[in-house]
Formats: sequence, C-alpha cells, structure tokens
Amino acid sequence: MDRTAQRASRPPGRTVAYEPPGTAPPLHTRAAAVLEAGWTGASTVPSRSLYPHQWSWDSAFIAIGLRHLSPLRAQTELETLLAAQWADGRIPHIVFNPSVPLDAYFPSPDFWRSSAAGRAAGAPRGVETSGIVQPPVHALAAWLVHLADPGLSRARGFLTRAYPRLAAWHDYLLHRRDLGGGGLVSVVHPWEQGMDNSPCWDRPLSRVTPAPARSFRRADLDHGLPEDRPTDLDYGRYVRLAADYRDGGYADGAGDFVVEDPAFNALLIASEYALDRIARELGAADPARPDRAERLTATLVERLWEPAAGMFLCRDVRAGEPIPERGVSGLVPLLLPALPRDLVATLVRTVCGPHFGLGGTTRLVPSYDLLGEAFDPHRYWRGPAWFNTNWLLEQGLRLHGERGRADALRKGMLHTAGASGFAEYVDPYTAQACGVTGFGWTAALTLDLLHDRPARGRNGLTALKEGDRA
Ligand code: SER
Repeated sequence: MDRTAQRASRPPGRTVAYEPPGTAPPLHTRAAAVLEAGWTGASTVPSRSLYPHQWSWDSAFIAIGLRHLSPLRAQTELETLLAAQWADGRIPHIVFNPSVPLDAYFPSPDFWRSSAAGRAAGAPRGVETSGIVQPPVHALAAWLVHLADPGLSRARGFLTRAYPRLAAWHDYLLHRRDLGGGGLVSVVHPWEQGMDNSPCWDRPLSRVTPAPARSFRRADLDHGLPEDRPTDLDYGRYVRLAADYRDGGYADGAGDFVVEDPAFNALLIASEYALDRIARELGAADPARPDRAERLTATLVERLWEPAAGMFLCRDVRAGEPIPERGVSGLVPLLLPALPRDLVATLVRTVCGPHFGLGGTTRLVPSYDLLGEAFDPHRYWRGPAWFNTNWLLEQGLRLHGERGRADALRKGMLHTAGASGFAEYVDPYTAQACGVTGFGWTAALTLDLLHDRPARGRNGLTALKEGDRA
C-alpha cells in the first residue's frame, strides 16, 4: 500500500460506542477474530504484516486473553515460546518462523545468527531466535492461563513443564543481568524493555554510534507510516547495539546501553509472585520466593523511586544517574501488592495529573509525559497510548482499591479498542489509531477485560494477591 493510501485508510479517531448496536459483530467476536487470524498453529503473530513472527512479551499478553477462548491454545502459545529458551535461561524476544521470507522483517534470523553466535550462551540448535530478551510477563501469564482451566492444565502437565523453564528465566535475569550491582535487572537494548524509542532512552542512546543507514534495510516502513515509527537514526543505534552484543557472543556486561527500568523490574516481581503460586500448586514451594518478591519491591523503591517526580524513573547504569524523563514505565509498579501505601497514593495522583491526564485531558494513559519536550502523540513510544500498559495500570488501580478509576479506564480501553479496529497504539487525546490495526495484544487484552468481573472488584492480579494470602 502506498503512503497516501495508508494515511487515507487510517481509521477515524472518534466513534461513539465500542459495540454499535446492529452495525458490527460484538466486540468479543471481533477480538476473537483478530486472534484467530494471527494464529499460526503454534503461536500468534502480533501482526501478520508488521510483526510476522512470535514476540516474547506479546505472546504473554496474548496468552492472557487467549485463555478465555481456548485454554489449550493459550498453553501452546507459551509452550512454543519456552521451547526456544536458551540454556543460560534467557527467553529470546523473537522466535522466528522459518516459513516467513527473510525480507519480511528486519532484523531477520541472518542478522542475529543465534544458533552460531549464541552457541556459548546455549542458543537452541533447532530454531532461530533473536539474542535479546523482553519483559518477564511469562510466569504471570502461565499462572493466569492455568487458572482458566486447572483440570486441562493438570492433565497436560502444563505447569510441571513450564515451571523449571520459568524459574531458570528468572534466575538468568536476577543473576546475569544485575549489571548495576544493586539487585535490580538491567536491559541492554531498548527493544528489551519493549518501549523502543521512549524519550527515556535518548540520553543513554546518544553515546551509541549509529550503524550506517546503508548497512541495513528497514522492513517496518513497508507497513507503517514513518511518522508513527522510530526514526532512521534510532534504528542505526538499535542495529549497532544488537550487532555488538551478537559479536560478543551474547555475553552480558560489556555494552554501552545498560538501564534499570521500573516496568521491566515490576513485571519480574509480579511474575515472582506468580512463580510462587505455580510452585505451591506443584507442591514444590520455595519458602524464599515470596520474600524475594517483597525484597525486590523494596529494592525497586530504593533505587528508582523519585519523590520529586511523584513516580519511578529509569536509571542509566553506565552514567550512574537517574534519567530525568517521565515515561509510562515509571507508573507500572502500581501493580505491585507490596508497594507502600503512600507511594500508591502518589502514583495515582501522578497518573491523573497534568503529565498523564487520566480522567482529565487524555482518553488512555500516554506512553510519555504530555508536558515533556519530546512528546509526540503519534510516534510509537514517544506519547501514544498502548493497551498493554493501560491494562497493567487498570489492574494496579483495581488491586489498590481505586475502583472508580479502574472502571473508567476499563471502559475507555474497550471503547477505544473497538473504535480503532484494535489499533497497535492510539493518540492519547483523540484515540486516533496509529501503527497497525488488528494488533494481537490489543485484541487479547480486550477479551481479558470483557471476561473480568469488575463488579466484584476482581481481576487477574487481585487473584494473585488473594492467592498469596490464601
Ligand atoms: N518492537 C521492535 C520492532 O518494532 C522490535 O521488537 O520491530
């Protein structure tokens, strides 16, 4: 499709209802159709056009929604990802589908060369993957998938097989990725944290010499508007970092980009609680694990909480200082059960205040500070609202008893998902669709919200918390 046609086909931002009576199939049916269309037989692509392989944190969010349609498919989704785990415990951020042509996505398997360059780190032989990771949402997803049909899960030995792999994944992060030495996990590439071009990375990325533009060909611009996507300069730096990591055999500790991120670490902690639930279900409880989740929460507060900003900030480990930018990742620790009450109250004030506008100027929580100099309502993670971060915040608000705000956010998400055709991300002010439509985790998390029982004040994370107290 040429650029003009792409622009003309962008769905209108303002529509009136997420289930217009009699004009379209119900939201549930449409969301299920998106996941059906993305199913390959073993996993779900985030998007047939822009992301035609399996992505790690996409799969975890997709499994959380898919469990309501088919617990078996949701289990398979996670099992396919876990089968590509490296011997050192890392779960790669992309598992490549060998039947997709090499030029359909960049960087392709011949860039990462996992089975050769990753040999010392234990990359699998039978499948090609990337060599970096993504946020650890997997144990949380596995526990929620189990809860959707415990009988099927037990009969198939789903958790018995997943547990050792999930535990090795967490061990890799906690032992091999504590590059700041303070007990938190560091990411070594913006793609690992998942919010690729967040303004939070501008400062640490400025130290990276970009790979020359002629040395690679982006495939993303064949499917997305350039103004919705990262710039060529960003890509040059992404490529340099990934190539250096690969050329060092994917050994950890040498790179120029090393960042402690609040969302990545908060998701690890939430998954630690889930791993404890899984271990107890299997009769293999490790008494240290719940303590570890609470200790990590305290470490997160100690290292990344910034009282003057009223939220968590990222930490540039190489420079040894906080990054003075407000990204949505600094709100995500709201999902932690052991967060001190005064911090919960401050985070709620921040999310509803002028920087993020929830309940005021914005429809959904933006990915970056509305008042920040770098704010751009359409460019990927520099301002647009994404459904996974909004889902995490909805869960966190509900967990901490902010029912009115959680209900309003849930309603806004369902409306926007339907009206935007399950957009990848939206303008936070107008809800205009950006990126691709028919996006996997948007559809999956819509299904999860539709299956929630907000009237009873319950959802996935409250189940986790209740479980921990049971
Ligand atoms: N999000 C990245 C992309 O746009 C890589 O994971 O391809």
